Formats: sequence, structure tokens, C-alpha cells
Amino acid sequence: MIWRISTRTWILLACQQYGASAQTTWPASTDEFEDIMFLTQGYRARHFADAVTPCSSGHGPGRITAAEWLRTAFHDMATGSVFTGIGGLDASLVYETQSGENIGTAFVSSLTTYAPFFSSRTSMADLIALGVYAGVRACGGPAVPVRGGRVDATASGPQGVPLPQNGIGTFKNQFTRFGYNNTEMIQFVACGHTIGGVHSVNFPDVVPANQAGPDGLNSTDTTPTIFDNKIATEYIQGTTKDPLVIGPSVQAKINSDFQVFNSDGNVTMKALQSADTFASVCKNMFQKMIEIVPSGVTLTPVIKPYEVKPYDLQLTLLDGGSQLQFTGDIRIRTTQRLVSSIAQVQLVYKDRTGATVSTPISTTHSGDANGFDDTFTFFEFSTKISTDTSISSFDVVITSAGGGTETLNNNGASFRIDDTVVFQAPQSCLGASSNLTVIAAIRNGTTSPSLRVVVQNPRASPIIVPSLSTASVAMASQTAIGAYQLYSASYAFTGSQASSALFGVFAGSSSDNYKNASTLPSACKPLSSSPPTSTPSSTAFTFQGCYYDAGVPRALSGAGSVSDTMTVEQCASFCGTTYRYFGLEYGRECYCGNALDASSTTMGLSDCNMPCAGNSKETCGAASRLSYYKSNKYSPPGVAQVSGYGYLGCYSEGTAGRALSDTNTASDSMTAENCAAFCSGSTYFGLEYGRECYCGSTINAGSANQTATDCNMVCAGNSSEYCGAGNRLNVYRKNIVTSSTTPTPTPTPSALSSSVASSSSALISSSQSVNSASTVIVFSTSTTVATSTVAPSSSFSTIHSSISSSSSSAFSTASSDSVAVIPTDSSPTSTLTPTLAHSSTTSSDIPTTLVSSSSITAASSSTTSSSTATGPSLPGYTYQGCITDTVTSRTLPAKSTQNNANTWTSCASFCDGYMYFGVEYGSECYCGDRLANATSSPSSFAPESECNMACSGDSTAQCGAANRLNVFKSLTVTQAPANPVVVGYNYTGCHTDAVGARILLQNYSFDSNMTVEKCGAFCNGAKYFGTEYGGECYCGDEFANPTTLVDETECSFMCSGNKLEYCGGANRVSLWEKIEN
Ligand code: HEM
Repeated sequence: MIWRISTRTWILLACQQYGASAQTTWPASTDEFEDIMFLTQGYRARHFADAVTPCSSGHGPGRITAAEWLRTAFHDMATGSVFTGIGGLDASLVYETQSGENIGTAFVSSLTTYAPFFSSRTSMADLIALGVYAGVRACGGPAVPVRGGRVDATASGPQGVPLPQNGIGTFKNQFTRFGYNNTEMIQFVACGHTIGGVHSVNFPDVVPANQAGPDGLNSTDTTPTIFDNKIATEYIQGTTKDPLVIGPSVQAKINSDFQVFNSDGNVTMKALQSADTFASVCKNMFQKMIEIVPSGVTLTPVIKPYEVKPYDLQLTLLDGGSQLQFTGDIRIRTTQRLVSSIAQVQLVYKDRTGATVSTPISTTHSGDANGFDDTFTFFEFSTKISTDTSISSFDVVITSAGGGTETLNNNGASFRIDDTVVFQAPQSCLGASSNLTVIAAIRNGTTSPSLRVVVQNPRASPIIVPSLSTASVAMASQTAIGAYQLYSASYAFTGSQASSALFGVFAGSSSDNYKNASTLPSACKPLSSSPPTSTPSSTAFTFQGCYYDAGVPRALSGAGSVSDTMTVEQCASFCGTTYRYFGLEYGRECYCGNALDASSTTMGLSDCNMPCAGNSKETCGAASRLSYYKSNKYSPPGVAQVSGYGYLGCYSEGTAGRALSDTNTASDSMTAENCAAFCSGSTYFGLEYGRECYCGSTINAGSANQTATDCNMVCAGNSSEYCGAGNRLNVYRKNIVTSSTTPTPTPTPSALSSSVASSSSALISSSQSVNSASTVIVFSTSTTVATSTVAPSSSFSTIHSSISSSSSSAFSTASSDSVAVIPTDSSPTSTLTPTLAHSSTTSSDIPTTLVSSSSITAASSSTTSSSTATGPSLPGYTYQGCITDTVTSRTLPAKSTQNNANTWTSCASFCDGYMYFGVEYGSECYCGDRLANATSSPSSFAPESECNMACSGDSTAQCGAANRLNVFKSLTVTQAPANPVVVGYNYTGCHTDAVGARILLQNYSFDSNMTVEKCGAFCNGAKYFGTEYGGECYCGDEFANPTTLVDETECSFMCSGNKLEYCGGANRVSLWEKIEN
């Protein structure tokens, strides 16, 4: 078992991946850099690599950001000299973007993308080096080792970037100046030119406009978005299209790649034909490039991910002064250590005298993150410690599921905590006019503290990167409280400085530093001299403290409710068992979530002082303050046990149709129990895609047991049960009942069962929804949906409908007290006949539970209306053909991924919910609801023979080729999302947006059930509202940052709460503007 690996083996494993040096001791100067490098996605992610993920991402036609980042590093370094020690990778490029040596927009774009990561803790030069790592890795290249510690130049350097017209003699001199010999020069240039290419707009002599590709880029090998050895193999085989080797550049004597590659008679290029050699050589060439730095600069050791790393460790003196709140997060590297084998993580700490405290601090799982090659799991803690004994250091102890323990002690140094300088977040604030007030508690006997503020000062164009300046302000003594003395200082920010300012409190050799001004509350709260009051306790939940809630983003963002009868118990019950935490705010608001947002810091308990609306004896937070509880009832979803049935496992669909093909239904209140009741006439039932239920007498051919974790969607009607996934069913089999056993009565209402009995093709909603307050519609179809003759494609919306209106429906009703069904699209509906299954009320305004037929479309390929292509076949999909694609204008632009285990099914599952998916170049997977560009016409279909690359995850199947997609169309997703009509607003199109430079800043919400309508309501009359990235919603009366209108296809994310509506994209807002009267 992986857990049993000893600490020594851990280190060995870590060393194998990151080189042989020891683990870094925390804290280190590169801690911020380590975060930006390794936390690319997930909890606390820094998203540095987003711009190069996937590798084909770019700023416009023919532009590939990963290639631009690599070229940016080369041009920054290339003015340096290892002989004089002047220049190198020093961000002098910041001052050189207008130079004739730096042609094109790549440099300004790259520096602009890096700028938000620039701070007193990370130089621009380090970020340029990091761009090499991220760009190369995102394109599938080697992990280039990166050191930190580069120092930024303050002015431009000398000239000296190699240009195509230089000639081989000059190239040799220039590369010698960088410290590269002739062989290394060839290797370095070949490695650089394996991604990207030459843009006609930048180098028209090399690529004349009339000979350029459709997007103005002629790539240097046939795979410009893959870091591979094709630059070498194509060159040696004589098939190269590298415009710096062949074409007009030859006659113009600017074919620099040929001159370089050929300078040793092609010996080096021949050796680079080996893929392994190419990868390891390039790693060395690039490491060498980013380590050319001005003399006097000392680089740190290679940055490796910590095995364990603390985050936001914060002591806060509480009201009364007798206790310190100690909070933070502990990050554990789980790349080799199985996270499932971690039973608990604890902090074993020493008091301020150095004596070990017997009760360790426990933690709870707060989130997961990953980088290119690593995974991490975070564990958060919050505890109170007496100011008398306090804390001086801790070790992290991991207990395995098997009971063994492992102590991580920071290379023997323990993780040090200094309690002499304590920044007081609750008492500090960023008030009106950007006025910063900082309060700190300084342990008695320590020298007077000072406040140090580092601000960014924007510089005049074309200098993209701001300058940094540091101000130091003496802090004034205030009151004494317990063992501490409070001090205060103020600082007035100008312009937008507050948004990026970092500050710290310093006294003697102690400090509490790197605090973010923008996360402080707007009002400072005095520290009370009386101790905090207690809060309700229960076995169902445990009070955690009072926390700051910025609102944007929410401290707890899973779900929320507001009620005038709110109590702690009501909120606990609302959040149920599927959330780890809940919290109450502003007397009547309740929030649920599995982790506290990073912006939510602990506050003094007295901050949470509003009585609950439903029980004035209980406290329900305050404005921007959350009374925060941990649920002791939290239980992650599992497979439901259904009485009378045995669970068989997680099955795939059949190869020639549905796995279970007797009858089926779908419902927003689906549970395993409901499906069992519906399928009572069949031996098997199965749950799929959260809300679909299938019945069968047999499990049809091709359906096979799959990995249990594939079935990972919770049931629409019960989030603690699993209900399959896309192309995955949780399958159950009826227990065999012997004659001596009394059969278990089937919990089907009589009206329902009679209806089922009368029509084998009846589709009904769940039995749970059959109650006195609801009416159930039963559809029968004139052609059975599970056969291969029809694929009904209409979908239906839930309505509150008057019975009398039902006569205007497209459906005939079997009974006069049926209710209306409104199809939400114009698809033919005449084959569907609703039949009343159960009606316990004849009220004229009753909620209607409806069945969506879009999800129960027949699986047989004969149902397809559009596809004529022959070739690959995949259950649930029709094959469309081998279709052309381009790097800069994707045929399926909604979503994409690159995966070395790519197969049709993995891509189908990644694209679940989209109408089309396509596989390309072996390892690439693309999704969309429309075939963009001209590809919907057969003229853009390529011959089948051109889709001839094997899938990276299945060598027996085809996965397109370069610029060729094998495209499949879903049989279940039959309606593409659209931009709905919103009363009072006009849809204005798809607009650009950026993290750190949002266009709408007034208000923000995130919802895993976002719809356009929900966002509109949330923004509550704002001039603009916009949806982004599926679940985000932004509001504002004006644009806070510039934005441009882009093609609609860039806003192709489905809303998390409605797959038939678009909700923007990555850094793309679907924008709505109020109609002014
Ligand atoms: C003799 C030396 C070199 C010359 C004359 C040269 C020249 C060029 C030219 C003319 C372009 C086209 C730029 C454009 O149109 O936007 C280019 C692109 C590129 N160069 Fe070089 N290069 C040299 C060495 C290198 C080296 C050593 C690297 C290593 C980092 C490198 C990395 C790149 C990359 C990644 C691109 C693609 C940029 C994009 O697609 O936006 N080059 N080079």
C-alpha cells in the first residue's frame, strides 16, 4: 500500500521527479512563486497556466500564447552576455517592446498576462522564466527546472537578438555570447521552433501574405501546438514546411533555421529525431536560457513543490485578550501519497516556552488542487489558544487509514509561529477614500512596531509593468489588553493602489507580513475588553467561529437561503448532509459549502452579533459576518440500498442501443427508490445522468461493468445518492423471491401502476412526486421510445398551469383533469400523448411535474436524422465524418482538452451535455453545439482516410489527425443551448473579460445551478449583467475595465443550471444590457 512508503522513500520519489536536492525549508523567498507554479487548478489555484491551456490557446488568429511565452523569454535573454555579465533574463524586455528587434505583439501580450502576478515577492524576470515552464509543459513538452531569485532590470539593455537576416557567422557569435556552443545553438533553435511559427504580418519577407495560411501563420513544423520532435524529423526527411528553411526566405537569404540546422552537416538535427533525446535536450537548453542572469544575481535552488506547506497562518487576539485564535490551511502533496489513505492531519504544537502541548490541533479537508504534474490536498484548522501559553511552532502529523503516523517537521526546523507581532484583521479596515487602518497586537516588552506598505505605481505607456514603492509608517500605541499592547497606523492609497497593495507589521526581528489590503472589511471593529459569548451547540454541528464574508465571492458558495424564521437549526437542516459547513449571516441568511473561500478570514466573536430572525436567543452573524458551523452530519453521496434489489455496479450503455431497453423515464426528483418503483415490472433498473431511469428484462449486449467511480452524478431528487453519469448507469437487479416468501409490496400508487400496466411504453415521473400537492403527467408515445424508430427531441419546462389551458397544448389528454405540457422548442411533438397517471387534485393552479423526453431518446443509430456518414460507431452517438479543423478557428470551439489516454468514450464523457464531440491528433478532444465555420457543408468534410491517427488511449481506434477531427453527434443532446429572452434586457453578445480586470465589478455571485434568468434577478436592475464560465454572474452599471465584442462561439459554456442556455466561457461574458425606457 502506498501509505507504507517510509519518509525516506517519499524523499527518494520526490527526488526522482524534481532532481536530487533536499526539500525546501519553509518559509522560503520562493513561496509565492511555488504557488503560482504548482497551483494551476482547484482550491487556492493561481491560474497562471490558464492562458496556455490548452496549448492552442491564443490572443487571435494564428497566435499561440505558449509559443509567444517561449519566444518572449528568448528575446529577453538574448540581449545578455555571459562574458560581460550584463543582461540576460532580467525583464529588460519591459523597456524594449518598441525595439525593431522585437517584432510583433507577442511581447506586449505576454508581459500583460504576467503583470497581475508581479509583486514584491515575484519579479517579472522570474515570471518570464516561469512562462517557459508553463508554456512548454502545456504543449506536452518536458518540465523545465526553474530557479527563482531573478532581479528585474530598471532600463533597457543593449541590442543583440538574433534576426533571420544575420547569417550563420553572426548567429555563431551571438550564441557564443549566450554561452551556447555550435551544437547547443542548433539544439536550442530547434527546440524553440517546435511550437508556433512565422506570422506573415510580422515577417512578410519570410511569409508573404499571399503564401500565408488562412490565419497568417506558417508553422515551423506540422504540429505547432505540440511540443514534439517533428521540427527535426520533418527537416531530416525533407518534408519540412518551416518557412525559415524553405520558401521565399531561401532566395532572400533569411532562411535562418536552415543555416543554423545545417551548420554541422545536420549531425545534431539527425540526433534530435529521437523523441526522448529531443525532450531531454530541450529541457537542458531551456533551463540554460532561463539561468542566464546578470552577474551579481544569485538564483535559488530549483523550485520543487513542498511535501507540506502552511497557508495563511494567522494569530488573532480575541475579545478579552485572554485567547488567540489560530487559523490556517495545511497543504499536503498527494502526487504519490494517496489522498484516500489520509485519515487525519493534525498539528502537534509547542507552547511559547517550547514545551509540547498534549492536545493536537485537528484539521478538516478544505479543498484539492493540482499543477501539471502534482496534486495537493488542503486541510484547514481554526482553534483557540490561551495567550499565556500561546504557540511557538508545530509539526504536521498525518495519520493513515491503517493507523500509522508520519510526522512532517519541515526538515527538522518545525513550522515556526511568532506570537510577538499579531496583525488584527477584525480591527483593521480599508475605509472610505481608500484609507487603510492597521491595528496590531504587540506582545508586551517588544519594541514599537511600524507598518510597511508596498504599492504598485502604474507607469506611462508603453511600460506595462508598474513600479513598486515601499512606505514605512510608525505605529501609535493604543490600549493594553492582557499580554498585548494594541498599536495603530493609517495609510492613504491613491488611485487603484489598494487593489494590489501588500502590507505588514514589523517590530524588531519579528513581523506579520504579506497581508492583502483589498480583503479587509470597510469598517474597523474595536477589540472588546470582555470575552466572547457562547453560541448554540448540538451533536449535529459544531461552532467554528465568526468569519468575514466578502459577499463577492461568498465565504460559502454551495447553496443559500433566506428566511424570516431563520435559526441555526433551520440552516443546519437546509444544508443537510451533503455540505461540510454552513453559516448564518445578517440574521436571516443561510449559506452552505464544502470549504470556506480563501477571502474569508476569522473575526472577533463579538463581530457576529445579530440575533437570528427566527430565534432571538441565537446569533446569526451580522453584515458581512458569518456565524460559521461545521456539520457533524456530513456524509458524502453513496450508492443507495434499495429494498428488494441487489446492486450490480456501474455499467456502460449497450453497443447497439440502451443497456436496459424495456421502458424509461426521467425526472428532476429522480432517486434510486423512485426508479425501482417505476421499473417494478422489470428485472433490472438503472439510473443514468442524474435524472434518468431505465428498466430492462435483460442487460443488453455491449453493456459492461465499469469502474465504480465512473458513476459519480448525484440523483436529481436526492443528492446523497448516486444516479450514474453520462453513458454510465448504476444498475440494480430484483432479488429472486421464492414462493415461500411474501413479496415486498411495490410502493407504486394504484393509479400509477394501472397506467404502467396499460402501456408498456409509459413514462412517468417518480412515485415520490406523487403527493397531494403535485400532479404527475404520464406520456405514452405512439412509437415506443426504446425502439429504433423514433427519436423524440422535444424538451419540456415545468409550469404552473391552469388545467383549462391544457386543451391548447400540442398533446391530447386522456383525462379531463390532466395538466398542460409546453414544449420548449419547435420539434415535432405529435407522436407524444400524455396520459394522466395520477391526479389527487383538480386545483386550477398546481405545480406540474414533467418528464423530459430529451434525455430518453432512443439509442439506436437508425434514429438519426442528420448523419449519413459511415465509419466509427459509438453507442449513443452518430458518427458525422472526418471534418477539417484549424488551430485558430476551431470547428468545435466550446471546450477542449488534451489527454494521453484520449478515447472516443473519454472524449464523449468530457463533452457530456454538448451536441457534438470530436477527437483530433490522437490526444485532443473538442466539444461544441454547432459545427463552426463552413464545416457544416459537406465540402469541408475531409476524406475518411485523412483521419488516420490512433487515439492516444486506444491504439485500435482512430482519433483524427493534424487539423482533422472524427466528429460524433449525441443522440441524447438534441437541442443546442441558446441565449434566452430576458424581459427588460437586450443580449449584447459575447465580450472579453479577465481575472483581475473584470468588466463588471459591482456585484458577483457563483452558483452551481446558474441560469441567465437567475443572474438577471441577482443583478437586480443593474445596467449590465453577464454570465461567465457556466456558473458565474457579474453585475454593474458601467464597465470597470475595457472589453471587446468577440465571436459568439467563444461564449459556448452551458449554464450550470440549464444546459439549454449559454453562460459565457473562459474569460468570456455573455452580456445583457438593460433596455432604457
Ligand atoms: C537564429 C536564431 C533565431 C532566429 C533568427 C529566430 C527567428 C524567429 C522568427 C523570425 C520567428 C517568427 C516570429 C513571428 O512571426 O511572430 C520566430 C518565432 C519563434 N521563435 Fe525564433 N528565432 C531564433 C531562435 C529561437 C530560439 C533559440 C528560441 C527558443 C526559445 C526561439 C523561439 C521561437 C518561438 C517559440 C517562436 C514562435 C512564436 C509564435 O508562434 O508566436 N527562437 N523565430
